[in-house]
Amino acid sequence: MRQSRLATVIFFSLLHGGNEDNNTVDAQKLYQKCAGCHGSDGKTIALNVSPMIAGHDKNTTLTKLQSYQQGRLDSVGLGRLMSTQVERLSPNELEALAEYISKMEK
Ligand code: HEC
Repeated sequence: MRQSRLATVIFFSLLHGGNEDNNTVDAQKLYQKCAGCHGSDGKTIALNVSPMIAGHDKNTTLTKLQSYQQGRLDSVGLGRLMSTQVERLSPNELEALAEYISKMEK
């Protein structure tokens, strides 16, 4: 488990080598554009319809963000809107955000 996670991290850093400030995805900064809807603590019901996201399991959140990116998730009819939020993010950035969200107090 640990090892495969490490492999994933290495894989993605190789994939993105040179593109971003290497290995220093600033999740807090990335999250700023999410905070307007989800709240800086992740507890706001975005647009009065989204679930709260604070403290959700990292992998679950990552899967959801990937699904939004691929246009395959639409829980409450605003999936397209969420897709536009994440469409330009790299796999590294999505993972950093998922991790950041998972560490928010529930
Ligand atoms: C304009 C408001 C808005 C912004 C900005 C926004 N979101 Fe969302 N988010 C929503 C809405 C609305 C939903 C529900 C979409 C649906 O119908 O599936 C949602 C859903 C989600 C979910 C799924 C919650 C669940 O448990 O099903 C996650 C995770 C999420 N957003 C994370 C983010 C992240 C990370 C960002 C920043 C990159 C972000 N959002 C930016 C409005 C927003």
